[in-house]
Amino acid sequence: MIRQDTDCTSGPIKIGVLYSSSGATAAAERTQLQATLLAAEEINRAGGVLGREIELVCLDPQCEPRRYADLAEQLILEHRVRIVVGCYMSSTRKAVIPTIERHNALLFYATPYEGFEYSRNVIYTGAAPNQNTLPLAGFMLTHYGSRVCMVGSDYVCPYESNRVMSDLILERGGEKVDETYLPLDARWENYLDVAKRIRQLSPDFIFSTVVGEGISLLYRAFQYVGLDPYRTPIASHTTSEAEVALMGSDVAEGHITSAAYFQSIETEANRAALARYQARFGDDSPANMCWEAAYFQMHLLADAIRRVRTDDPTLLQRVLPGLEFDAPQGRVRIDEHNNHTYLHPLIGRVNGAGQFDIIGRAPERVKADPYVVSHTTPRWTAQAVAHSVPYGVQR
Ligand code: ACM
Repeated sequence: MIRQDTDCTSGPIKIGVLYSSSGATAAAERTQLQATLLAAEEINRAGGVLGREIELVCLDPQCEPRRYADLAEQLILEHRVRIVVGCYMSSTRKAVIPTIERHNALLFYATPYEGFEYSRNVIYTGAAPNQNTLPLAGFMLTHYGSRVCMVGSDYVCPYESNRVMSDLILERGGEKVDETYLPLDARWENYLDVAKRIRQLSPDFIFSTVVGEGISLLYRAFQYVGLDPYRTPIASHTTSEAEVALMGSDVAEGHITSAAYFQSIETEANRAALARYQARFGDDSPANMCWEAAYFQMHLLADAIRRVRTDDPTLLQRVLPGLEFDAPQGRVRIDEHNNHTYLHPLIGRVNGAGQFDIIGRAPERVKADPYVVSHTTPRWTAQAVAHSVPYGVQR
């Protein structure tokens, strides 16, 4: 069924929100939900959009791809929303897209992902592979070596990210020593088996695309079998401050993540956003790359609605490409050609306080290359050093 009532020009602007409060990836999705609430409250406090309030309609899909699709339909048909923010795992985004496209709605997706996708009905504000996997490969292959074990959760994002990482390793004469996938509900013993096998294989580093609750189990198992993160780190683009808070810094210290945002970024914009966030949700609420993208995409959306004076997706699609915003990571921009976002990639290493020391940063924001047309790893990743560099300091 197609909605007929597209002339919604007064009253609150309803936005559907699909982040899970329970299930495997709830810790990361909670940061996205809170960032969305924070941004909406900021927009409303400043007078709303053209005097209209943002009203969030939040539903809990419990990390089940089918439920995301059903609830997206419910948001559009019953709650009359035309814009949805949400989804974490790529399996959930892929479940939702046919519904979003069928109703010509818009989805804002704020999670780093595997690429190889474009929909004119999706705005991708998380990192694409050239903004996460390529920098990570450049850094790890330069500083640690090219014998690599891969471990991931059993769904599409890890398969595809490992495919890209495998190509980069093999093209450079390296070796994929092992590749393992574990179900989202895998247990401690399963992770322990993987860690024991990795110890025996003695790789130069481990590329992890494990998501959710399994992240903490993997890092704990790694510590349990006596692997040293400073010699053989786990490198990831999904392990963030949210998961580090769950596993503890004693377990996470020394491991490496590639992301376009870390809570430790020392900019005025970041410090101010964090202060507002922690005043609202508590001093120990972790912020991470998903939090930041969920936050800035709401501000970009509000700006777009202001420009076209409506939440009609067809009109929004015309103004969103090219829009910019001073996000906590720096100035971001929605690409005119691919609906992804220019971001500022970083490499971070977990320190003893559970934060990321930034040990490498792109000299300028990077255009997304979602289909990985270029396999060139960025030059700055080879120059990055294995100790802390204060954010903003050019070496
Ligand atoms: C992911 O599935 N995009 C983390």
